[in-house]
Amino acid sequence: MEFAPAITLMPLESIIRPLEATDLEQLVAIEQDAHEHPWKESIHLSCIEQEYPSLVLEIKGGVVAYVVFNYLYDECNLMNITTTPKLQGRGYASQLMHSLYQHSKQAGMKSVLLEVRESNQPALSFYRKEGFEEIGRRSSYYPKDEQREDAVVMRRSLDELPSTPTGLLVD
Ligand SMILES: CC(C)(COP(=O)(O)OP(=O)(O)OC[C@H]1O[C@@H](n2cnc3c(N)ncnc32)[C@H](O)[C@@H]1OP(=O)(O)O)[C@@H](O)C(=O)NCCC(=O)NCCS
Repeated sequence: MEFAPAITLMPLESIIRPLEATDLEQLVAIEQDAHEHPWKESIHLSCIEQEYPSLVLEIKGGVVAYVVFNYLYDECNLMNITTTPKLQGRGYASQLMHSLYQHSKQAGMKSVLLEVRESNQPALSFYRKEGFEEIGRRSSYYPKDEQREDAVVMRRSLDELPSTPTGLLVD
């Protein structure tokens, strides 16, 4: 009599590392899938060329999420955080965000600033859960179909950092 091999369910190990130029193709594919108004490849390329300290989260050698950011004076400017749609809701953006806090704090930043479309409810919920607060609006900032929509400007202080969620952080 034959027995079927036992199946062991292992948590998928995630690795966070600096974004590299060779990630560009994967970023552009995820960007197209995840965003209603995706960045063009040239914008991602420009951020890579300017050597922003951006990060990616990998599982089994493939990029599944990324965060693009830059430092200006004592502020970290978060420009893009994205998780591939089929893996959203599993805490990957949150892991990336916590890594961004650590890197930013080490680099001497005092806060994280971002702008988000007022219609982007998932992102607004995500940022609020991460402790961001609305500090202003930029009227008609983003193009939307034939019209424009406001940007919500949000800020989070880096004075107090929550404990890092699970995940292997690689510098
Ligand atoms: C916003 C985004 C990055 C979140 O990524 P994610 O990996 O799914 O986020 P997490 O799993 O870490 O979510 C953490 C928390 O964010 C909130 N959140 C995330 N997705 C949400 C959704 N669709 N609706 C409501 N809240 C959501 C929840 O509070 C969640 O906590 P919970 O799971 O305990 O409820 C993702 O939805 C995305 O890539 N969206 C498209 C790109 C985009 O708009 N990026 C932001 C502007 S650049």
